[in-house]
Amino acid sequence: MNEILETLPGTTTQSLQSDEPKPEAKTRDEFDVEIDGTVGQPFVDNPKMSSRNCDVFYAEKQAIFDVNVDIGRNEIIAMIGPSGCGKSTYLRVLNRMNDTIPICRTTGTHTLDGEDIYAKDQDPVLLRARVGMVFQKPNPFPKSIYDNVAYGPRLHGLTSNRSELDDLVEASLTKAGLFKEVKDDLQKPGTGLSGGQQQRLCIARAIAVDPEVILMDEPTSALDPIATAIIEELMDDLKESYTIAIVTHSMQQAARVSQRTAYFHLGRLVEVNDTDKVFTNPEHQLTENYITGRFG
Ligand SMILES: Nc1ncnc2c1ncn2[C@@H]1O[C@H](COP(=O)(O)OP(=O)(O)OP(=O)(O)O)[C@@H](O)[C@H]1O
Ligand SMILES: [Mg+2]
Repeated sequence: MNEILETLPGTTTQSLQSDEPKPEAKTRDEFDVEIDGTVGQPFVDNPKMSSRNCDVFYAEKQAIFDVNVDIGRNEIIAMIGPSGCGKSTYLRVLNRMNDTIPICRTTGTHTLDGEDIYAKDQDPVLLRARVGMVFQKPNPFPKSIYDNVAYGPRLHGLTSNRSELDDLVEASLTKAGLFKEVKDDLQKPGTGLSGGQQQRLCIARAIAVDPEVILMDEPTSALDPIATAIIEELMDDLKESYTIAIVTHSMQQAARVSQRTAYFHLGRLVEVNDTDKVFTNPEHQLTENYITGRFG
């Protein structure tokens, strides 16, 4: 994996410190490359989630164009691409978070274990317990650490007494790598924790309802390298039990944590491949331009 990291811009390896002139960043309009479907391997056997013919509109403006992709079981799939290319919009399709934006309209077929998540009888609140989400900015509720984690299990009636709830809170905080740090402070406000701790609290809160999939939208972009490393390690443990889709602007992070990588460009899904392949031998010119830093 080190070889991959060395090929990425932003790393302080020797090859990048040489005197060779850096390729000049180009603007969007300078790229006139056809995007015709998705290259690579967007589909897998027995997927955990899948989307077919996904378009997303904000009022009249189309943000996602005909995305077709599967998300494999117990895999971490990274979603990368320039700002505004639709990564967050597509991620929110997967747990119907876009339903909360009145002007947003999603089309296509989207399934979780083969079940249509946009079916009329599908309750979005229950769906979001199965497909949890962690946001860029840690957003603990203005409640105690304990109540933050207990919130979902209480809402969904997952435990029948206080001692079961205590156990679930402890187990979730432990899985999120936070329990040791907060075990004596469970009644203190979640908002009083450091940024990295708050993000782990939000992961504990997502885990507490025993989701099947966790969507993470730039979960470490507000964190320092140490807190980032802790969360990345945690993701590696979590993938044993969950499927994870992570949006990241850090190609190093995508290379470190994910098994497959999806490259979005101007609302289109250009390429999906094994992460090693995307970062060493991408199939599409646009993917290559992006990972080599030739995209301004
Ligand atoms: N709530 C909204 N209302 C209207 N348009 C929106 C909304 N959210 C996103 N968009 C538009 O949809 C397109 C895709 O945005 P999105 O936030 O999904 O991109 P992104 O790839 O996540 O970008 P970033 O890397 O900056 O987070 C953009 O053109 C954006 O302006
Ligand atoms: Mg985004």
